[in-house]
Amino acid sequence: MKNLHIPAVCVHAYGGPEQLQLQEVPVPVPAEDQVLIKVMASGVNPIDWKIREGFMKHPLPYIPGVEASGIITAVGESVFGKKVGDEVYGSVDGSYATYAIAQGESLFRKPHEVSFEEAATMAGARTAWGALFDVGGLVKGQRILIHAGAGGVGHFAVQLAYNAGAYVIATASAENIDFVTSLGASEVIDYREAPFETQMDPVDIVFDTVGGDTTERSLAVLRPEGTLLCIVQMPDPGKVTEANVNALWAGTKTLTSMHEVHKLLEKGLIRPYVRKVFHSLEAAAEAQEYSRSGGSGRGKIVLKISEE
Ligand SMILES: NC(=O)c1ccc[n+]([C@@H]2O[C@H](COP(=O)([O-])OP(=O)(O)OC[C@H]3O[C@@H](n4cnc5c(N)ncnc54)[C@H](OP(=O)(O)O)[C@@H]3O)[C@@H](O)[C@H]2O)c1
Repeated sequence: MKNLHIPAVCVHAYGGPEQLQLQEVPVPVPAEDQVLIKVMASGVNPIDWKIREGFMKHPLPYIPGVEASGIITAVGESVFGKKVGDEVYGSVDGSYATYAIAQGESLFRKPHEVSFEEAATMAGARTAWGALFDVGGLVKGQRILIHAGAGGVGHFAVQLAYNAGAYVIATASAENIDFVTSLGASEVIDYREAPFETQMDPVDIVFDTVGGDTTERSLAVLRPEGTLLCIVQMPDPGKVTEANVNALWAGTKTLTSMHEVHKLLEKGLIRPYVRKVFHSLEAAAEAQEYSRSGGSGRGKIVLKISEE
């Protein structure tokens, strides 16, 4: 495929959705520890538009996207256990393109019964695993509040905490209460109806996937020495001390957590939910704007890039 060009979405300057430009780029060539995949679907995450807006930095120009599912088309010589034709998913930088390269070890075999769209969303499960278990040390019998139980990260967190034997309380809009209950939450609080603090008893852990005033309001629902896990922002340290609790940054991204959620996916113990699929690279701006609007939804947003 050397010298061939492929369609990709490129960002040359930070800014609004108009910065997402569809253009032809040379097909990437994998290094010896990398593989080339034909991208079937790319997850669309809040980090995609946060980087595009310059809120988080990335060298320019770049192709957006951090995760994908696809089919391997070339394998570097030192990659072990992967071959051309394998259907895979995992961390893929620059996934808003018809072909992309990834580290061989960052890709996992897609189970047959999981669609390419579903598999392209598993970074949310990895984030949830890292926060709950690697950072939070969640164990059976603990009480946990998960904010945005219907969200891209939250819907995985509810399933993981339930599987671990925790007592799960989650926040969601009224229309998502049945959905979040079906994932394993014992109590689902309609956060629009009344402040969540007034609708629950104290918990050992809060997992905050929302940010804003939700972060510091969460200190009030922790039992003494309980733990607030943060992936959006940290609370004021003085308020944490005053509340006699802990607050930890939980935005870790380890390969080990991806292995853990992959095992659960293979066993059918967690399921990704796709909120909305945008068909084609031309829809990248629309998909990011949909994510940025933060509207009600269940699960994750996906850009379908190639048809089977
Ligand atoms: N640091 C890291 O490593 C890391 C990794 C992944 C994500 N993140 C961050 O985590 C955040 C969540 O990501 P995501 O992919 O889960 O986002 P998302 O799917 O876009 O979240 C949308 C959900 O948020 C819920 N929501 C909105 N306002 C709420 C509130 N006040 N209380 C409770 N729920 C509320 C909505 O629930 P309803 O529809 O039920 O209203 C909706 O389902 C983003 O800011 C993202 O950048 C950080």
